[in-house]
Amino acid sequence: MVVQDIFRNLQETDTILIMNGGENAIDKTFFYLTGAESGLFEGSAVIANEDRIELIAYNLEEQSARETGKEVTVVDTKRQMEEKVAEKLKGKNKIGVNLESLTANMFSSIKKLLPGSEFIDVSKIIADARTTKSPDEIKKLREAARIGSEIYTDVLDNLKEGMKETDVAADLVHGMMRGGATGPSFMPIVGFGSNSSIPHYFPGERKLKKGDFVLTDYGALYKRYCSDITRTAVFGRATDQQKEMYEIVRRAQMESMHMIKAGANGRLVDRKALEVIDATKYKGRFMHGLGHGLGLEVHDHSALGRTEDLELKENMAITVEPGIYIPDYGGVRIEDDVLVKKDGFEQITGNSSKELLEVS
Ligand code: GLY
Ligand code: MN
Repeated sequence: MVVQDIFRNLQETDTILIMNGGENAIDKTFFYLTGAESGLFEGSAVIANEDRIELIAYNLEEQSARETGKEVTVVDTKRQMEEKVAEKLKGKNKIGVNLESLTANMFSSIKKLLPGSEFIDVSKIIADARTTKSPDEIKKLREAARIGSEIYTDVLDNLKEGMKETDVAADLVHGMMRGGATGPSFMPIVGFGSNSSIPHYFPGERKLKKGDFVLTDYGALYKRYCSDITRTAVFGRATDQQKEMYEIVRRAQMESMHMIKAGANGRLVDRKALEVIDATKYKGRFMHGLGHGLGLEVHDHSALGRTEDLELKENMAITVEPGIYIPDYGGVRIEDDVLVKKDGFEQITGNSSKELLEVS
């Protein structure tokens, strides 16, 4: 969707106020509405309606705000920020807010600033708009996927016995930024050997040795848009069991991915991957949903979950990431990013290897 579609779907109000909190409470909708490619925008506000999107930003963000080409008001203090928001929304009976991302503190101060207004939660309309990507968003997602995919072979070429997981994480981030990324889209997961069986593992001090699985789950951020890629390889020769696990995960990914198209039910796509894995001796070892939406956030929206019926829509960007995890032994996950098309899908990350890569 394009931003203007949000306003066409609003019924009770024509105006939305987005108000960021501190660094950990930035509403990504701020960037969806303004297109600001740079800047943190803590405590900043956007007032938006069908014809106009206006930013109120602190002086330190002025340049980033002006680069959006939108109308900008600059303030120096929190008090001025509050006064400007109150002034610009004075007399508005109903104001839309994104309760999904607004902190309780911020909401309570907004209510105090505008005592005569009623606030309408428009988070569902915003979330729906953000799930289907515009051509410009797709361009950025493709670039994030390309950068992330292209660095993988360099990172594998650089693997050496005794390297730490954090060294490989550093290589991933370094490679993506050299390749044009704004940054990593999240802190990379790098698990050697048995650590690869922990889906959300944080890289640590473990040293690489022959025969280890090397699971890397990482992504590039490009102009605020995310990719999310997982590759699993073996350092040295793979055992039959390692190869078998890889082959099953790959088949689960392929068979489920081929069900993706506009109108498909995400839960049934997930179920396909689960059925492939559960038909083997690894039954029960795929313990998370098959994939999620990608966009301004790595986990942008639900997509291929185990319990939720969710209709896939054209121009959604989603991950497909089956895995098999065996505690104290190791895990395999393969994750690729795809765009949902009218009659199918398009994979935007480079193809993962059909066979388990053995790195010597
Ligand atoms: N990249 C980590 C995850 O999708 O959970
Ligand atoms: Mn993922």
